[in-house]
Amino acid sequence: MPQDVHCIIGASGQLGTELAVALHNAGERVVLLDIKAPSFSALLGLPFEKVDVRDQAALSAAFGTHRVTHVYHLAAALSARGEQEPQWAWDLNMKGLLHVLDLAAEMEGIRQVFWPSSIAVFGPGSGPVAAQSAYRLPSTVYGISKNVGEHWCSWYHQHRGVDVRSVRYPGLIGTLAPPGGGTTDYAVEVFDHLDGTAPYTCFLKADEKLPMMHMDDAVAAALHILSAPRVSLRCTEAYNINAMSFAPEELFAEIRRHVPAFQARYAPDFRQNIAAGWPDMLNDDMAREDWGWSPKIGLSGLVRSMINARAVRSVAQ
Ligand SMILES: NC(=O)c1ccc[n+]([C@@H]2O[C@H](COP(=O)([O-])OP(=O)(O)OC[C@H]3O[C@@H](n4cnc5c(N)ncnc54)[C@H](O)[C@@H]3O)[C@@H](O)[C@H]2O)c1
Repeated sequence: MPQDVHCIIGASGQLGTELAVALHNAGERVVLLDIKAPSFSALLGLPFEKVDVRDQAALSAAFGTHRVTHVYHLAAALSARGEQEPQWAWDLNMKGLLHVLDLAAEMEGIRQVFWPSSIAVFGPGSGPVAAQSAYRLPSTVYGISKNVGEHWCSWYHQHRGVDVRSVRYPGLIGTLAPPGGGTTDYAVEVFDHLDGTAPYTCFLKADEKLPMMHMDDAVAAALHILSAPRVSLRCTEAYNINAMSFAPEELFAEIRRHVPAFQARYAPDFRQNIAAGWPDMLNDDMAREDWGWSPKIGLSGLVRSMINARAVRSVAQ
């Protein structure tokens, strides 16, 4: 069997950067595709191609040139930016996914596809603890695209034999790349406002609880579900995965244990309405049973890790 070649589309983004570093550090061959070049120093020596996922011919050429075996399709318009530019968001999210799934069906060398879904597939009727098969009536263009995308993944698996696997990520929190326009971005941005010079202004209400996940667990989930035997995966759409849930006031209280001078104020904007429709947490029993999903990092570990990573970076600069 030819050597594994992992192609990350959207590799310069928040998740793509961390996934690329993890795969590279594990000794895997990685190819980076994005419309913007990677900026994280550890990725600068890796093969990079400027490819727009909406251009199927360019995508096909990149897959062929690099003999790609595994595709991680991460390029997407996220929830908040998608509400401001709905046509662009729909075009990017749907066209990109269908191009990837089509090529995976046609090109024999592509063995697996990972495509992330999101908690945004759920809406107000899904309940505070969303079950795997909870009613889904998403309230954003982003959520609609992820919901429909899940059905396409299932269709391509059942009718075209594509081994595509997916999880519903909560808000992701990491240090290597800035967030890309989501509703949970406050939980990343706040760590750039710990110097005590001015209070951090949070765009959600103090008590708006949402499911969240440290980036190390998010990367582990992607690699873990891809390594599971296909026969053990009962779900052909996307698996609920859960790690922790917190409201801004709970995150900020934990930050204050490390930075007592930290201050926050609240000025909820349109993103509060999006967040209000999402569940507080996801029931992930099926992921635990089918492929052994088990998160490692909770709220205190997350805050410690984010503060330490920023301290290391500021010493290095
Ligand atoms: N970050 C989160 O909290 C979160 C939560 C749930 C699901 N997800 C999903 O995870 C995936 C990655 O999210 P992220 O936070 O890294 O997003 P991001 O916005 O940080 O990164 C997306 C990357 O895609 C690139 N891109 C945009 N348009 C492109 C195009 N036309 N062709 C090629 N590349 C293009 C961007 O330049 C960017 O580097 C997305 O599918 C997102 O829906 C993220």
